[in-house]
Amino acid sequence: LSLRLATLDATQKDTAMNAPLYSLPTLFLSAQDVATLVHRLGLPAALDRMAGTIHADYLRWPDFDKSARVASHSADGVIELMPIADDTTYAFKYVNGHPKNTQSGLPTVMAFGVLADVDTGVPVLLSELTLTTALRTAAMSVVAARALARPGSRRMALIGNGAQSEFQALAFHHLMGINEIRLYDTDTAATRKLMANLAGLPGLKLIVCDSTAQAVHGADIVTTVTADKTNATILTPEMIEPGMHINGVGGDCPGKTELHPDVLRLASVFVEYEPQTRIEGDLQHLPADFAVTELWHVLAGNAPGRTDAAQVTLFDSVGFALEDYSALRFLREAAGELGLGQALPLIPALTDPKDLFGLLRRAEPRPVALALAA
Ligand SMILES: NC(=O)c1ccc[n+]([C@@H]2O[C@H](COP(=O)([O-])OP(=O)(O)OC[C@H]3O[C@@H](n4cnc5c(N)ncnc54)[C@H](O)[C@@H]3O)[C@@H](O)[C@H]2O)c1
Repeated sequence: LSLRLATLDATQKDTAMNAPLYSLPTLFLSAQDVATLVHRLGLPAALDRMAGTIHADYLRWPDFDKSARVASHSADGVIELMPIADDTTYAFKYVNGHPKNTQSGLPTVMAFGVLADVDTGVPVLLSELTLTTALRTAAMSVVAARALARPGSRRMALIGNGAQSEFQALAFHHLMGINEIRLYDTDTAATRKLMANLAGLPGLKLIVCDSTAQAVHGADIVTTVTADKTNATILTPEMIEPGMHINGVGGDCPGKTELHPDVLRLASVFVEYEPQTRIEGDLQHLPADFAVTELWHVLAGNAPGRTDAAQVTLFDSVGFALEDYSALRFLREAAGELGLGQALPLIPALTDPKDLFGLLRRAEPRPVALALAA
């Protein structure tokens, strides 16, 4: 390199040394970018587009190369990788679940994810997914409830008022017409936070309850979105009334569940990807031959969802990689429309793709072997 530089004039030298080392276009979306995106679109429209994208991708279920997520468990939590691909696009999400985190000022759930081009492997998008996971989980809950809850459902119980809860409340309010939400959390400060965040929203009545049983009584839809690294029994069979739809969101890990097994026995149970839910969902308490229906069959019209008004339906949600694929796809499209995000110099663009070593030479004006030895 020093020999080659010696043959250049001062301007050429300057240009050569300052040439961008990296230029493949990976779009980066920060949490602030995603918040701005939601503000610009409006939360109801953002949730609606997210739900629409998820629904459309669920209708393409057979196109996807699917697998249960890869989980690394520890004493207080789990870290998971969630990959999925179709013929053109690969996606993965990194996500954790550490219920004790809130005691030390960290969120229970944190995430980021990537979309990549299947033909070349180029990562085209790297995005925050912490905020996005809350949006996509709420949107997915609505996609399931639209197919499974009684038409005309207006009253929801919301058990667990932590980070995900406002998103659930607003998705059900804006997309499903829920106009009364009955709240319960063992931590009254969490409920006060939810009340403050959603105060003054016209057409939405919030009622604070003293117990799960009180909140659930008379509800059309019951959403459980608690976090505790234990087999909790948030819902027991005597709380369940004919016709209820249960949206079970917080039981999503081995040894971390929310429902008494008899709640599943009295319901028709719907799941995202059966092999994953058998391991992670409330379904883990039931025998391997307990009948469930994958939701995509219902959305595609291959299987019945709700068949009568008295039937109890249960969406045993654990969060499946396809929803994050859809979320990333939606973010990329909306960010393009709104001009959000930055080009991230993640992957080197090489003049000679076989000369990766040349990257070190361009970064270092001295003979590279000497510099590396120093
Ligand atoms: N299914 C999915 O796709 C999906 C996606 C994201 C998060 N989750 C799960 O949703 C849950 C909630 O996540 P978060 O980010 O809101 O967590 P968070 O820690 O912010 O909130 C959880 C709330 O549950 C409350 N809680 C705990 N035990 C309770 C009980 N017995 N009764 C009533 N309330 C109780 C806590 O006080 C807390 O306020 C977690 O378990 C998380 O793993 C699932």
